[in-house]
Amino acid sequence: MLFRNRFLLLLALAALLAFVSLSLQFFHLIPVSTAKNGVSSKSRKRIMPDPVTEPPVTDPVYEALLYCNIPSVAERSMEGHAPHHFKLVSVHVFIRHGDRYPLYVIPKTKRPEIDCTLVANRKPYHPKLEAFISHMSKGSGASFESPLNSLPLYPNHPLCEMGELTQTGVVQHLQNGQLLRDIYLKKHKLLPNDWSADQLYLETTGKSRTLQSGLALLYGFLPDFDWKKIYFRHQPSALFCSGSCYCPVRNQYLEKEQRRQYLLRLKNSQLEKTYGEMAKIVDVPTKQLRAANPIDSMLCHLCHNVSFPCTRNGCVDMEHFKVIKTHQIEDERERREKKLYLGYSLLGAHPILNQTIGRMQRATEGRKEELFALYSAHDVTLSPVLSALGLSEARFPRFAARLIFELWQDREKPNEHSVRILYNGVDVTFHTSFCQDHHKRSPKPMCPFENLVRFVKRDMFVALGGSSTNYDDACHREGF
Ligand SMILES: *[C@@H]1O[C@H](CO)[C@@H](O)[C@H](O)[C@H]1NC(C)=O
Ligand SMILES: *[C@@H]1O[C@H](CO)[C@@H](O)[C@H](O)[C@H]1NC(C)=O
Repeated sequence: MLFRNRFLLLLALAALLAFVSLSLQFFHLIPVSTAKNGVSSKSRKRIMPDPVTEPPVTDPVYEALLYCNIPSVAERSMEGHAPHHFKLVSVHVFIRHGDRYPLYVIPKTKRPEIDCTLVANRKPYHPKLEAFISHMSKGSGASFESPLNSLPLYPNHPLCEMGELTQTGVVQHLQNGQLLRDIYLKKHKLLPNDWSADQLYLETTGKSRTLQSGLALLYGFLPDFDWKKIYFRHQPSALFCSGSCYCPVRNQYLEKEQRRQYLLRLKNSQLEKTYGEMAKIVDVPTKQLRAANPIDSMLCHLCHNVSFPCTRNGCVDMEHFKVIKTHQIEDERERREKKLYLGYSLLGAHPILNQTIGRMQRATEGRKEELFALYSAHDVTLSPVLSALGLSEARFPRFAARLIFELWQDREKPNEHSVRILYNGVDVTFHTSFCQDHHKRSPKPMCPFENLVRFVKRDMFVALGGSSTNYDDACHREGF
């Protein structure tokens, strides 16, 4: 029986990969000939895994397409699921900005021609896009903490600027907002009809893509988007660590983690060879090409169905992409094993987790402010939070990723509160380090809020392995 299920799963996976491979051909990204010898033999992944002999493989192109998060039909999600006697008390949403233009150019190539203006009748569509454009183009008054006021409210360049949010990015967050609205407002009545500005807590980094992503999500989420009820705070740190950013031990973990990354790269001769080939194509030293982080730009080509760049020396192609992406996946695997990133994450995520449980605690006391919190952030924000929570198996944050904390009250025992954690719509509560053996120890269907509090106040530091029991000690531990 088990064997049969597994076989069916593999079959489904094979079908999916076949579909991905077909759609890539459709996307004109698979090179017509792969004449290069050597390069492809070792890294080449079979498109159809052999269900008998091969375990499911991590396919670099499949992973990349998940990362793109190309808007399609509404997805299934597990947000807002709880036994009927539970009442939703507050919701805390961490998002990564939506699809953006690359942050770096591949040297000496033409950058991808992507239009960052918003056009309601151009793909990807969203029923609220037109109203969003019209609302945003009227301006905001003063709804933001300085220096956010100087940022544009929506993307608006015929050729995207570096790092600019695209129409895809806006649509991804309009969709997120609408999905959360259906669940939290329509179904669970999180906000009263006469809700006010106090009931929202909004915070963003100072990049236009995060502010605009946050606005798009709110536009999809709120029943009436009224600038008078919107106030975005500015967060200078990508870790959202506010007044608690100084943490020398965290930086030491990061340096060791970067050293690990560097050594792993050196060991990968195929990766070095690929960078060498690409450098030859674009005619710059390999070092310069590598420093330009070409995967970021290549992902943009892939997500937007724009063929990889060519020069008179040849073309960057899918095989190059696969080698670099495969290395990235391998790097994430080693990162989990070596745990240096975990140390960095526990310290890096503590301030924002501490702030979040503070907000939740106030809600358990019956306070009605800040019932919905939105943090509009980056991959380098979500990754440490995921890792610190023990969700190290979670995929790298895709464009418009969302990580949500839900706080629930048991109506039958009003003093008892529970949390749920959701990542991209998947309930991961019982994968977190603070609730993973809950079912073994307790018959309760939900994860107690105290578990999260205990974790943030104490167990996070125990997990670091030293004798520290609080943030300041852990950040200044001698002899680390
Ligand atoms: C991708 O681009 C090619 C032309 O470069 C076009 O023919 C094809 O329809 C595009 N695919 C999608 C899914 O937009
Ligand atoms: C944690 O939050 C409490 C308030 O809820 C605050 O007093 C304390 O300073 C915070 N600690 C850190 C390290 O951020």
